[in-house]
Amino acid sequence: MRKPVIAGNWKMHMTCSQAKEYLEVFLPLINATPLDRDLVIAPPFTAISTVSVESCGTRLELSSQNVHWEDDGAFTAEISPLMLLEHKVKYAIVGHSEPRKYFSESDEQINLRAKSAQSHGLIPIVCVGESDKQRESSETERVIRRQVEQGLEDLDPKKLVVAYEPIWAIGTGKTCASTEANRICSLIRKWVGFEDLIIQYGGSVKAENIDELMSMSDIDGVLVGGSSLNPINFARIANFKST
Ligand code: 13P
Repeated sequence: MRKPVIAGNWKMHMTCSQAKEYLEVFLPLINATPLDRDLVIAPPFTAISTVSVESCGTRLELSSQNVHWEDDGAFTAEISPLMLLEHKVKYAIVGHSEPRKYFSESDEQINLRAKSAQSHGLIPIVCVGESDKQRESSETERVIRRQVEQGLEDLDPKKLVVAYEPIWAIGTGKTCASTEANRICSLIRKWVGFEDLIIQYGGSVKAENIDELMSMSDIDGVLVGGSSLNPINFARIANFKST
């Protein structure tokens, strides 16, 4: 039985005071959320402590937006797993298409980050997905298979979340058709070879499409960008209706 993981990726949004105001609205709205799903927010590093303190004693879990493979050292701008654990962070997003694109993150680096996360008891959320150009030239499956094979090498699939995020659907309002997202998620499950792997979909997830996405057989949760910035919208997503 796969327990869905509903995660909000705040990206480079939310000061500490904004995060506090957000939680004042959001937390009461998840009081009655069924326990059959996990709820996660990935704030920017500066707001992790605030979210950790303000959500203490609730069911909301924390994710980071990155994690380094070393515990400490001369790695300006990076974050160590030990720093995250101090704030009760449970998940770490790695391999998001934005650092892949803007900072040329490689599958090898992503794999190092994910292995470091697992070795410290953090659950990596490893993002994979194709660009619109790759999709148009029928390269989708090849690209994702390579990201899966290299990015997930030597990882324990029992302590892992994979997020299928087609790049062309991120922040564009163009959601991938739920049947197509489901098809890719089922291929990822087959390539990893672990039936209970948690696989999220991400890319323009919103209140209007969450119920349909979550009704798909191989979609075990969502990774939400823009719609997670509004506490009412994200609460509606967290409260998706299971069929
Ligand atoms: P949007 O929900 O804004 O499309 O972003 C998706 C995403 O990148 C989540 O990591």
